[in-house]
Amino acid sequence: MQRKGTSASGPAPVARSGRFATGPAKAVAQFTESISFDWRLWRQDIAGSRAHARMLQRVGLLTRLELREIERGLAEIEREIEQGKFTWRPELEDVHMNIEAALTQRTPAGAKLHTARSRNDQVALDMRLWLRDHLDQLDAALRRLQRALVELGAANADVVIPGYTHLQRAQPVFLAHHLLAYVEMVERDRGRFADCRQRANVCPLGSGALAGSTLPLDREAVARELGFVDERGRPRISQNSMDAVSDRDFVVEYNAAAALLAVHLSRLAEDLVLWSGAEFNFIQIGDAYTTGSSLMPQKKNPDVAELARGKSGRVIGNLMALLALLKGLPMTYNRDLQEDKERMFDTADTVLATVNIMADMLGQVTVRQGSCAGAAADPQLLATDLADYLVRQGVPFREAHHLVGTVVALAEKMGKPLDQWTSEEFQQVDRRFGADAPEVFDLRQAMERRNLAGAPGRREVQKQLARWKKTLAGH
Ligand code: ARG
Repeated sequence: MQRKGTSASGPAPVARSGRFATGPAKAVAQFTESISFDWRLWRQDIAGSRAHARMLQRVGLLTRLELREIERGLAEIEREIEQGKFTWRPELEDVHMNIEAALTQRTPAGAKLHTARSRNDQVALDMRLWLRDHLDQLDAALRRLQRALVELGAANADVVIPGYTHLQRAQPVFLAHHLLAYVEMVERDRGRFADCRQRANVCPLGSGALAGSTLPLDREAVARELGFVDERGRPRISQNSMDAVSDRDFVVEYNAAAALLAVHLSRLAEDLVLWSGAEFNFIQIGDAYTTGSSLMPQKKNPDVAELARGKSGRVIGNLMALLALLKGLPMTYNRDLQEDKERMFDTADTVLATVNIMADMLGQVTVRQGSCAGAAADPQLLATDLADYLVRQGVPFREAHHLVGTVVALAEKMGKPLDQWTSEEFQQVDRRFGADAPEVFDLRQAMERRNLAGAPGRREVQKQLARWKKTLAGH
């Protein structure tokens, strides 16, 4: 295909203009195109072009009329894309060239838009803008997930379950306490994303291909117009043109934070899978969030939770792919960088969808209070409380630990659960057990005793639920 064609509005904005006698081989065009995925940057690309054009006019590189034509053309293109009427042309490689070509078709002034700009700073800009928008959406979704966790905990505020270590029953906790652990994790995730947003929120435009421009651009005005400002409204622009066009740290940082979020979601999903199985039977997941088996008529499988767990693999993989992509790149821009976008989009789509569906699913979880109570009634969960009891009698903890170990072994041998032991029986093991020793196994009281900050006691968990409700009400 001849790619040197000129039209009424001047040379078409293709990357291979004057210098090339022929177009790329078909397979090369297919291999190098990015429009099949970077079309998603169209909104950001147009916003960037608008701000760039306005600045070009202010510094005298465009006339008012040219600016007006460019703005009108961009608005038309924007509308066409929104309405699905825009024709993306793969032979124009990417979103930048497609939009610029469509603009230049409408107005000869389009040929001036790329003044002092390269696709290298343009794509860096578009990705930062896109990521910023995504992070705002993700933050709202994370808040929703936190709210769903808090609501499920608050609706079952009296439910106690065994807490586990090594997946062995350990000590009793309120179900709400367990769920609030995830609220804390998500809060740290939010912090990491906010931090990442800060560093992404720097305007690279004006860096050109790698060495800026000899033309008198007003970089700060562009940054201001695109919202690249600090908390006091001062523009934030990149300080090294070579760094600006080759830096993808912000994508790596984002994906690293997303990978950790995905791991948190995966752990939550795993808890839900376990809890919904007959062996635990702590919860039931609403029909709408489970699927059947094609063979076994009785099955109700927690596929949504399983996929939430499974999808963490993609997000972790995307992080590895990005790091591997960057590690050997010489300065500055290299076409390898085009590979960053699918990883960023895939991670963003995956975590956003997973957070949303997990929040929805939590709203459809019912707690089987009877099974929880049954599991929480296991008196061995309070063996540590019995050791603490002895400590209160002045017994050194190591010795108390040993004595209670003896009691537990005996209880198992005799087939007599700890909560059925009389004080006399305890005293046969050690005379420092008092008449009140059996009271240790009153679960209600046991839950009142756990009132250190951060502990799973009733008062503390109520306090934490109230704190989160208040925090989340404001969002
Ligand atoms: N599609 C390219 C990318 O995503 C845009 C930048 C191309 N720049 C270049 N000099 N070939 O990286």
